[in-house]
Amino acid sequence: MITACVNLDLYRYEIHAMLKAFYPAEDVKVLFGEQKGNECESKPFLEVCYAEDSLTLTFHLSTSRIPAPEGEDFARKGPVLKAALKHGLYDNLAKITGQRLPWGELIGIRPTKLVSAQLRAGRTPEEAAAMLMEEHRVSRRKADLAAEIAVREEEILSRLDREKGYSLYLGVPFCPTTCLYCSFPSYAIAGWKTRVGEYLSALEREMQAMAELMASQGKHLETIYIGGGTPTTLEPAELERLLSGIERFFPETGQVLEFTVEAGRPDSITPEKLAVLRAHGVSRISVNPQTMNDRTLALIGRRHTVQQVIDAFCMAREAGMDNINMDIILGLPGESDADVARTLQEIQKLGPDDLTVHTLAVKRGSRMQQWIETLGYDAIHSCVTDETVELAARGAEAMGLVPYYLYRQKNMSGNFENVGYARPERILPDGTRKPARYGIYNMLIIEEVQSIVALGPGSVSKCVRRGEDGNVTIARCDDARDIPTYLSNIDEMIARKIRLFS
Ligand SMILES: C[S@@+](CC[C@H](N)C(=O)[O-])C[C@H]1O[C@@H](n2cnc3c(N)ncnc32)[C@H](O)[C@@H]1O
Ligand code: SF4
Repeated sequence: MITACVNLDLYRYEIHAMLKAFYPAEDVKVLFGEQKGNECESKPFLEVCYAEDSLTLTFHLSTSRIPAPEGEDFARKGPVLKAALKHGLYDNLAKITGQRLPWGELIGIRPTKLVSAQLRAGRTPEEAAAMLMEEHRVSRRKADLAAEIAVREEEILSRLDREKGYSLYLGVPFCPTTCLYCSFPSYAIAGWKTRVGEYLSALEREMQAMAELMASQGKHLETIYIGGGTPTTLEPAELERLLSGIERFFPETGQVLEFTVEAGRPDSITPEKLAVLRAHGVSRISVNPQTMNDRTLALIGRRHTVQQVIDAFCMAREAGMDNINMDIILGLPGESDADVARTLQEIQKLGPDDLTVHTLAVKRGSRMQQWIETLGYDAIHSCVTDETVELAARGAEAMGLVPYYLYRQKNMSGNFENVGYARPERILPDGTRKPARYGIYNMLIIEEVQSIVALGPGSVSKCVRRGEDGNVTIARCDDARDIPTYLSNIDEMIARKIRLFS
């Protein structure tokens, strides 16, 4: 257990996140006021003392007094103090642990957002990368990656209509089984088979209300994403009903830039379901291995084999799917770099169009978190190093894919990132152009440049508005996470969503 005590209730989240980043296996507490009680009487690991002219960080063996920069004071408790606190914490913890973090002191902020702001201010990508290194202690490798992705994203997203375009997300919260690491809204389909019709009716009511509202505002649909959960746990007739519903309520469905179905679990994919997806114009699917190691698949509760991944992928190609994404996770329990290398080699043989490399995040509410609480952090044997991440980057490059989106989450193994790689545009020797395979919706949820109307349990709708001064404001509302509450409160959720977008 690591305890920090603060004299003001200020930036406790940042302190907690920084300590957790350096000590992922420890339970971290940041205490203030009465909470401090006995725990801060015996010397805590860290004491933070805010004063008007300085900030003092006292660790077990060292004390740092950080004066306010010239011409500034800390009394305003604003960005200057926050930046000084983060620098002070990072530099001291790096010294104490002998470790540097790949993303330095960046917490809760998208690296690409910082780069994009620099590019808009007229800096070059190299200058933006240098800023990440100097001001935020980001490593050279990661700063260059963020700059490369930000430039590519800017180019891809410039094709979207930011004023009148919007995206639609539909969640299907059923899965064949629940995976060890997962905290997404997901229910084992076996227990819900008889109520899928009721669920689809609720989604249709949401679709109708939102389609009418968006059309009345002259908005048009640009991308559709059906995620989950695992949408292909639905039977072919249920999928048919869902997709016909989308076409009925959103007449632009046939013209969207991208229509993704996150098929995901290979054990849920059949030729009949693929035929339904094709018939309704689905342009992109995922077939997710997570790992090409049968032992790990069993351990994480996927209940499918490597052979089923290969079969589902080939089935999708035979059905005519020419944009297939595959997801993998680095740091799965017990996996070494040799396992990751094998996964990448096996995937390369299949030749996906898009590969998303996640780093394991221990999510609250996942079965993995319960494991850790009972057996301790070491029980998951999760290890991701620079070499593991490099291995994945080189693997993607060998498949002809380039990085195009990036995001980070809390509690990620080794403090790394999730990166999406995809095939760029190609011109074949005969002059034929093969379009790029970037997943546009993936970028939209991270970069928040367009409104997303999201339907289904746990989904989060975002209304993105641009003021006359060009400033962007984002308002959100989410649907209830559990299906029974979602079903019984559907009218209220529709009303909230209408208010959000009106
Ligand atoms: C919404 S999930 C659903 C995908 C689909 N149901 C499947 O399992 O194949 C999307 C992706 O997030 C990743 N993911 C989910 N939980 C994760 C975690 N705790 N840490 C890292 N990646 C995670 C997995 O790679 C997964 O394929
Ligand atoms: S990872 Fe996918 S299949 Fe597994 S429980 Fe989560 S949503 Fe379902």
